[in-house]
Amino acid sequence: MSEYLKCIACGAEYSLNELRYQCDCGGLLSVERDMKQLQSISTKDLDQRLLSRKAHDISGVWRFREGIIPFDEDKLVSQPEGQTRLYRRKGISSWANIDRFFLKHEGENPSGSFKDRGMTTAITQAKKLGADTVACASTGNTSASLAMYAAHAGMNAIVFLPDGKVASGKLAQALAYGAKCLAIKGDFDQAMAFVKRLAMDGKVYLANSLNPFRVEGQKSIIWEIFQNLEWKAPDWIVVPGGNLGNTSAFGKAIREAYEAGWIQKKPRLATIQAGGANPFFQAYQNNFEKLTAMEAETVATAIRIGNPVNYEKAKREIQELDGIVISVSDEEILAAKKIIDSQGIGCEPASACSLAGAKNLVQGGIIKPSETVVGILTGHLLKDTDNIDKENQPIPVDGNYQDILKAISS
Ligand code: F0G
Repeated sequence: MSEYLKCIACGAEYSLNELRYQCDCGGLLSVERDMKQLQSISTKDLDQRLLSRKAHDISGVWRFREGIIPFDEDKLVSQPEGQTRLYRRKGISSWANIDRFFLKHEGENPSGSFKDRGMTTAITQAKKLGADTVACASTGNTSASLAMYAAHAGMNAIVFLPDGKVASGKLAQALAYGAKCLAIKGDFDQAMAFVKRLAMDGKVYLANSLNPFRVEGQKSIIWEIFQNLEWKAPDWIVVPGGNLGNTSAFGKAIREAYEAGWIQKKPRLATIQAGGANPFFQAYQNNFEKLTAMEAETVATAIRIGNPVNYEKAKREIQELDGIVISVSDEEILAAKKIIDSQGIGCEPASACSLAGAKNLVQGGIIKPSETVVGILTGHLLKDTDNIDKENQPIPVDGNYQDILKAISS
């Protein structure tokens, strides 16, 4: 097998078939590979797969399989996922002042968020290793995705949720798919500590993005964007940041695609955090000297995270790719969401960080209006219906025609 696990801190290597989430030194693990394997796959080969009707070609993750993880075809746990749309709207471009502004809608995945891209890989690996119980801590979307894939694979799912802080659509999904949902008195970061301990004790298979197999699947968001844009890389990729799995995955995806020869230039990466949950931004501002965990609070509950587990990986990717980290207020997030919704696309609040951040970066002179920018919409509008613009409300009408005429002309 040309793939192996490598510690990003000390460089120690482990087999992919070993059940482990971290290095013995405590460092984060990354799946590494012989890059010749990717160099032997051309963009033409990848485009050819778009014509296939085979499940692993239809999946926007497994279509890039040589760059994901090794799998047995009969043990693949795929919905299939990915194949999400890339939207462009005049109203959004003019609001952000970027003519070539695209939104990649990861809310169009089977469970309604980007998490499915990393969950198909994590659960496929869990099945390969013989796990029967999978678990995660979650602000909501990971739990919905985990519950969906565990149900598909016939595994038990246990999810740890911060009590009262998960949007109702997400909790409903996890419950419907049959996951055991533990409502923890505490925040996401405390829930994460519990599930990590359970996984280290060997009681569950951990499916959070600390698991390096999650990150491998999430890379396909970037590769699919390149394919959507006919392999002409944009100037910027803009993504919300919480636990920083995407930031880590995106940087790796950009580096690998460049090394594989799929793109001719590397886009810059901008991670956008919510003002009340911005430990990564604060670390970036102090030149990444240290991460100071914080108590997080934001209307974008998906990214209400004060101690991101993927900090070290994300830090390296931002440094390597001349990336940038900024923070936007809840007001900016909700204003951007309103625009995205009004253009007939829609997203959950955390996703709107991408547009709020892009606008902010143009105003600051960092992104030029002439550049090509792709923002990621991480979750579907229906995930969080509490934060929909309240200005437009149902109009009560008595059941007679005159009232209806009055209502429609008011
Ligand atoms: N957007 C949405 C909709 C999310 O659900 C998340 C993370 C993020 C952005 C941040 O992504 O962690 O890769 O930086 N949600 C996790 C969860 C934490 O449990 O569903 P990240």
